[in-house]
Amino acid sequence: MKTKLKEKITLRPRGRKVDFEVLKSLEKLLDVTSYRRDHLIEYLHKIQDSNGAITKDYMTALSTLMGISQTEVYEVATFYHHFDVVDSEKDKPPALTVRVCDSVSCELNGANELAKMLDDYYKGTVRIQKVPCIGRCQSAPAAVVKMNPIDNATFEKVKKNVDAKAFYPELPDI
Ligand code: FES
Repeated sequence: MKTKLKEKITLRPRGRKVDFEVLKSLEKLLDVTSYRRDHLIEYLHKIQDSNGAITKDYMTALSTLMGISQTEVYEVATFYHHFDVVDSEKDKPPALTVRVCDSVSCELNGANELAKMLDDYYKGTVRIQKVPCIGRCQSAPAAVVKMNPIDNATFEKVKKNVDAKAFYPELPDI
């Protein structure tokens, strides 16, 4: 009886099927000779930065290239608010995101009011996203314009940086 049951089981790959066009473009984007499990977050950053989001096709391709489960890639990608996991290209968020921390220190210093003012002003043309602590509690409320952190953020400060397309922090001279 046991043998008969075993015979009936046919193994098949689990999860989504790989799109080979996406796989090729991902290989080109990552441009590495061997894939390292401890570089998963770096790979996800590269996809996010070049595509503006991480589609499910890219997550499937990445898990195939790295030889890890699709679940592992999905769990890491969805854990961090900097990654936008979407079904497909058409679901991508607006090109610019302003993140406003709404954890305790920032909330006590007006983060929710700031996020609302920004939302009312930009009306979806810029995505305003409330996020948990970004490690700048001493300068609450803190916001991030794309990748540029804004300490003691106000509506005027955020708008000034958005208008100037100041999307990256100024690095100190070394
Ligand atoms: S609570 Fe807002 S940066 Fe930490």
